[in-house]
Amino acid sequence: MAVSAQDLQAVIDGFPRTGLAELPTPLHDCPRFSEALGGKVRVLVKRDDLTGLAFGGNKTRKFDLALADALADGATAVITGAASQSNHARQAAAAAAKLGMKCVLVNRHDHRSLMGIQGNQLLDNIFGADVRLVAEGVNQEEVKNRAAEELRAQGEKPYIIGRRAVVLGTVAYVGCVLEIVKQLAAMDARTDFISTASGHGTNAGLALGVKALGLPVRVQGFSPSRGGNARREAQLAEVANETAALMNLDIRMTAGEMENTDAYVGQNYGIVTEAGLDALHLLARTEGILLDPVYTGKAMSGVIDRIRKGEIPSGTTVVYVHTGGNPALFAYAPELIAHGDYRQNVITQ
Ligand SMILES: Cc1ncc(COP(=O)(O)O)c(C=O)c1O
Repeated sequence: MAVSAQDLQAVIDGFPRTGLAELPTPLHDCPRFSEALGGKVRVLVKRDDLTGLAFGGNKTRKFDLALADALADGATAVITGAASQSNHARQAAAAAAKLGMKCVLVNRHDHRSLMGIQGNQLLDNIFGADVRLVAEGVNQEEVKNRAAEELRAQGEKPYIIGRRAVVLGTVAYVGCVLEIVKQLAAMDARTDFISTASGHGTNAGLALGVKALGLPVRVQGFSPSRGGNARREAQLAEVANETAALMNLDIRMTAGEMENTDAYVGQNYGIVTEAGLDALHLLARTEGILLDPVYTGKAMSGVIDRIRKGEIPSGTTVVYVHTGGNPALFAYAPELIAHGDYRQNVITQ
């Protein structure tokens, strides 16, 4: 049974927040971008690249709740880790700095870190995180556990960002749906689709929020990595159901109600696609909005492809939830320069 927006808001407001996230993020109409795609589908961008902390991104919403939970539990340090250019890690480093917590990042020494300290990794260091890079074949989880032991020996109380944070991040994206609904109403608009880059909490939270409110909206998730759509959709339903239980919502979701595809990943996670870079340039050049090469550019290439194929039909509206990731642009300068054939035009006289 659907829940009213007011009741759902009251549930979200019951979760303690750190105040890290600047909410609501803006919802921008993108008429020039829509026109460049034929003008028959209205595209709006929900600017979660402007969540207010360290170049923004979806993880700021997540940490707003998850770190309030950690602090309530007496945590003094944060441990997390992902790829070397992780946006999650960069936002964790900034959040920890702002909350006066230590931060250990156990990231992968992958093809991007081999290129040197740039993009998110540069920012991780600026924020004062203890950045450790795990070589191939070394177990990342074990390194995190070792870091936790070290911190405990120093009298700290470490919080390893894990499943509970994923669920709280999903709660945060139910809250994002409420923002979108309010903002659309203020613009006298409605949407048919909500699209986003995500393989976990963001997709699950948006889908749960839409179902909770009983909205006639399709949520389309575009994964940044390969992994089998059916398997991922089952995982999304699991996260959504854990979240619904935590929120005391009498709603459950099935894998069949989730929509997530890895069709626009290309070769692999973190490897650029031509279509993703085209999408990134098109939005930048029509609306002045930056996307990133790993997540949001690829996801937008999926939206563009579906508009062109009519799978997102004429006359409909898409809200694209921009999950951030812009600092990675600098770590991908070689691919961007090659793609755009950028040159330094030096005038000598
Ligand atoms: C820019 C960006 N978009 C999307 C995602 C995916 O978020 P999730 O799969 O956790 O919902 C991430 C995750 O790191 C990200 O950095």
